Amino acid sequence: MKEHNVCIGLSNPKSPANVGAVMRAAGCYQVSSVFYTGERYARAVKFNTDTKDARSNISLTGVDCLLRHIPQNCKIVCVDLVEGATPLPEYQHPENAFYIFGPEDGTLEQRVIDRADAVVYVPTIGCMNLAATVNVILYDRLAKSASTLANDELIRQSRDTNNKVKVNLL
Ligand SMILES: C[S@@+](CC[C@H](N)C(=O)[O-])C[C@H]1O[C@@H](n2cnc3c(N)ncnc32)[C@H](O)[C@@H]1O
Repeated sequence: MKEHNVCIGLSNPKSPANVGAVMRAAGCYQVSSVFYTGERYARAVKFNTDTKDARSNISLTGVDCLLRHIPQNCKIVCVDLVEGATPLPEYQHPENAFYIFGPEDGTLEQRVIDRADAVVYVPTIGCMNLAATVNVILYDRLAKSASTLANDELIRQSRDTNNKVKVNLL
């Protein structure tokens, strides 16, 4: 299967719980790296929402500016409620993408939006939680991917070791 480069950028995240939940999503959806700006994540270090410990193999790096850390092959995809953005159901994800999300208590800066290859939003009533949005974007990418692997072996590998439940349709 072809390896794609998928990165996440968090603009000045505030809540330690969100960063932990984003790292868990990154593990579940095979994100390569997560970058963040700002000082507020420092408070997250002791917090462990990420119970699957995705942080052990996915890098989480604090940077001054997300735009200076876009891998060369990645398109910049800003995700926020921005006028003129593309609704997610209509969006086709690029193979290699750097998805940028705004802070819980703010919005992506105009200078970041102006650098984007695409700006997408989820047509929700009201805005979602940051980590919920990351999960929705990554799931949408998976659902639209032609190379998604989905079978019982994956379920066996992904579930809890004490889960032996099977579907027995009548
Ligand atoms: C709690 S929201 C912040 C408020 C949001 N910027 C607004 O104008 O309502 C935190 C982040 O989650 C993402 N987000 C939440 N709901 C979204 C939606 N419906 N579509 C796109 N992004 C969303 C964005 O990246 C946003 O910056």
